[in-house]
Amino acid sequence: MGDHLKKVFKKNDTSSTLAAVIGSPVTHSLSPILHNAAFDFLKMKWEYVALEITERELEEVLEQMRLGGLGGLSVTMPFKTIMASLVDSCTPTAQALNAVNCVVSTEEGLIGHNTDGDGFLNGLIHDAQFDPRGKKAAVIGAGGAARAVIEALARSGVTSITVINRTLDKAESAADLAGEIGRVGTPEDIPETDLVVNATSLGMKDNSEFFPCPIELLHPNQIVADLIYHPLETPWILETKQKGINSYNGVSMLLFQAVEAFTLWTGKEAPISVMQGAITQELTERTYK
Ligand SMILES: NC(=O)c1ccc[n+]([C@@H]2O[C@H](COP(=O)([O-])OP(=O)(O)OC[C@H]3O[C@@H](n4cnc5c(N)ncnc54)[C@H](OP(=O)(O)O)[C@@H]3O)[C@@H](O)[C@H]2O)c1
Repeated sequence: MGDHLKKVFKKNDTSSTLAAVIGSPVTHSLSPILHNAAFDFLKMKWEYVALEITERELEEVLEQMRLGGLGGLSVTMPFKTIMASLVDSCTPTAQALNAVNCVVSTEEGLIGHNTDGDGFLNGLIHDAQFDPRGKKAAVIGAGGAARAVIEALARSGVTSITVINRTLDKAESAADLAGEIGRVGTPEDIPETDLVVNATSLGMKDNSEFFPCPIELLHPNQIVADLIYHPLETPWILETKQKGINSYNGVSMLLFQAVEAFTLWTGKEAPISVMQGAITQELTERTYK
């Protein structure tokens, strides 16, 4: 085990329960802010840290978790897929996505979960009182985030999911996650849908001038969700708002994937508004400073 990991696990051997996010790069992760705000508010003796690790160190981190040295583990890029093969078992969602973002230690061993898709859906229910039953959804993008959203929407009661993506074979594979209600489409299908999700990186800093779809295809009877949270409002989201469309950024997906992880690890209800306040403050500072 690398010296940096030894130090972290040794320092925390009894005084508090350690939880961590592992990834590379991971220094800018917002997960410590979300979880530490919740631990502090509930006066729990837990500490959540970001651990920059290499692939070779994954097994050692899991061994620490098996030995009780880690109470919770979040997984981010580039380890979500490999983690699905390292845990003892996966939930059906993590298995379908072949991606794990949260590991839970149980008597049955280490269980790999994926809370991203339910995080998206619970965020939309929270923010927009969205009722998915009977609705038609369009998802633009077919990467990891899009796949998680599609898999969750497919379980939610929507009646169709149209996947629109630059690379066609990825769109097909993502649409397959939705079974019979999934299909590949084009931007021209967007006006017929009730929910439009941007799950591409169009709108982030290097791509900020590009829109995932033309604003003319959107109308005020739709709900528009952008998974991007940095910047807090992409130019596309700002324009949808000017057109009177109910639109939402990706903060709630980030928040609610953490809310689910928190409860899985601690068995406690997460203090949602405290976590929301902490993340909004941090993102506002990062966006506007
Ligand atoms: N709110 C949250 O909690 C949360 C969680 C995860 C991710 N996200 C956000 O979701 C977005 C996607 O993340 P990801 O992990 O799914 O990334 P990813 O796996 O790399 O997928 C990127 C997607 O964007 C598309 N894309 C990229 N550049 C494009 C361009 N110039 N023109 C058209 N399409 C383009 C890709 O299309 P191709 O397939 O054609 O390459 C692909 O569909 C990111 O903005 C990320 O910040 C948010």
